[in-house]
Amino acid sequence: MKIFLDTANRELIEKWIPTGIIDGVTTNPSLLSKEGKNSKKVLENICGIVKGDVSIEIVKKEPNEVYKQAIQISKIAPNVVVKIPFAWEYLSVINKLVKDGIKINVTLIFSVVQATLVSKLGVKYISPFIGRWDDIDRDGMDVIENLVIMKHNYGFKSEILAASIRHVIHLQKSILMGADVATIPPTLLDKLMVHPLTQQGIKKFDADWSKLEKEDLFD
Ligand code: G3P
Repeated sequence: MKIFLDTANRELIEKWIPTGIIDGVTTNPSLLSKEGKNSKKVLENICGIVKGDVSIEIVKKEPNEVYKQAIQISKIAPNVVVKIPFAWEYLSVINKLVKDGIKINVTLIFSVVQATLVSKLGVKYISPFIGRWDDIDRDGMDVIENLVIMKHNYGFKSEILAASIRHVIHLQKSILMGADVATIPPTLLDKLMVHPLTQQGIKKFDADWSKLEKEDLFD
């Protein structure tokens, strides 16, 4: 499974890259709005430090403008994936962009039908938002389960990118259900690194080792 960082914060990306577990980054206008006004610079920096795919979202609304902006965004760096929210008006734009060889991530996916339509177009990623389904009292994991079945039924190549992951259960279930990618906010990644039983186990090993009154294993 690929793990992407869901942030536009350079320091946080630089913190996690050396661990080797980060395969890419996803950004969106809300995340970018936290990083100051010079979004182009912020994005160029991110693309320079991340080896894998970096999703950058269009903000234009009119389909021709969306197409032009998508082309501009794709030129920022070779690892850019253009993120476009699902809307029927954008299907022909997405179709054209895929044919132009531009990597596309269709975002704000909430149904298996939306996901099927854009998989047919050959987009690189489809991004179902788990937490936002939960916000309105539906189990957001159902959409991941359905998308995995849909992908296997038809042999689509588009990767299922589980997004709006809020807690460990979202991530665990995404892994077990077979999502191809999970994009994780750095705050959650921090929490995932600490397990009380691991901490407890280390303490016990240290306590037992100290009984030998030796500094090193080979003293
Ligand atoms: O990757 C999508 C994510 O940034 C949205 O998350 O928690 O605002 O629903 P959230």
